[in-house]
Amino acid sequence: MFEKITVVGAGHVGATTAQGIARLHLAREVVMVDVAEGIPMGKGLDMYQSTPIEGFDTRIIGSNGYEETDGSQLVVITAGLPRKPGMSRDDLLNTNADIVRQVSGQVKRTSPDAIIIMVSNPLDVMAYVAKDVTGFPRERVIGMAGVLDTARYRTFLSMEMDVSVEDIQALVLGGHGDTMVPLVSMTTVSGIPVSHFIEAGRLDEIIERTRKGGAEIVGYLKTGSAYYAPAAATAQMVEAIVLDKKRILPCAAWLEGEYGQSGIFLGVPCKLGRNGLEEIIEVDLTSDERAALERSADSVRELMGALS
Ligand code: LAC
Repeated sequence: MFEKITVVGAGHVGATTAQGIARLHLAREVVMVDVAEGIPMGKGLDMYQSTPIEGFDTRIIGSNGYEETDGSQLVVITAGLPRKPGMSRDDLLNTNADIVRQVSGQVKRTSPDAIIIMVSNPLDVMAYVAKDVTGFPRERVIGMAGVLDTARYRTFLSMEMDVSVEDIQALVLGGHGDTMVPLVSMTTVSGIPVSHFIEAGRLDEIIERTRKGGAEIVGYLKTGSAYYAPAAATAQMVEAIVLDKKRILPCAAWLEGEYGQSGIFLGVPCKLGRNGLEEIIEVDLTSDERAALERSADSVRELMGALS
């Protein structure tokens, strides 16, 4: 268990992530920070009051400032505006970059040894902003999204095949956007290739639905984006780190030559443990998958170029 974990942003994603971290007994204290007056304190106290019923001893503290977060071992950043219908993740670029710059400066000042998990969108670029502002090594700045995108893909496959989600193994790489790369060659059901169960045309439709998985939810919610699955994905990454599980999860990592890419955050298989990003696993891709990953990297790079 960590002594202190901070979640920046007390919106739906942040608050649900804080609750997930507390439920998994991953920290003695969870601090939720948000600029919105009253909100982090109100949600924090409410969540704290659930602990006698839920049965965890985590102290949940809400704050409008960073003093309470001092010395956090891990910081999840969810701050930023969510998407509205018709908006792409990329439309949020410069608004959220300003917010993430400010937050990252505060994290560097108050929790210089923290591991950062970036959740704010567009997340590959926001992870870069955080790494740039903090100067933290790549082991300590990791982006969420591969776990979320893979969970969506596994859910859709489970719906299609009527088999347990638990038995579906898959990997979605690339940026968290429409160019993400679900790896069909690595999609199996208890080790059996997915092609045994689903014909190629139908699988393409499921992949397309996965790529647009976030937008599908925004379309329903109208005033916000998904949060249950994003928060669950983030809590799973936190768990892998706190419990030093050495899990292999798809995460956005700063690449230094892996997959032929450098100077960019991109979703790749990562080993997560106590030190954060402990290893990037480079797997052989088919030529189509490699080309798709390059296209995805190009679109992340283009967005990085649009940062003001
Ligand atoms: C999603 C948004 C949050 O994928 O990026 O749901």
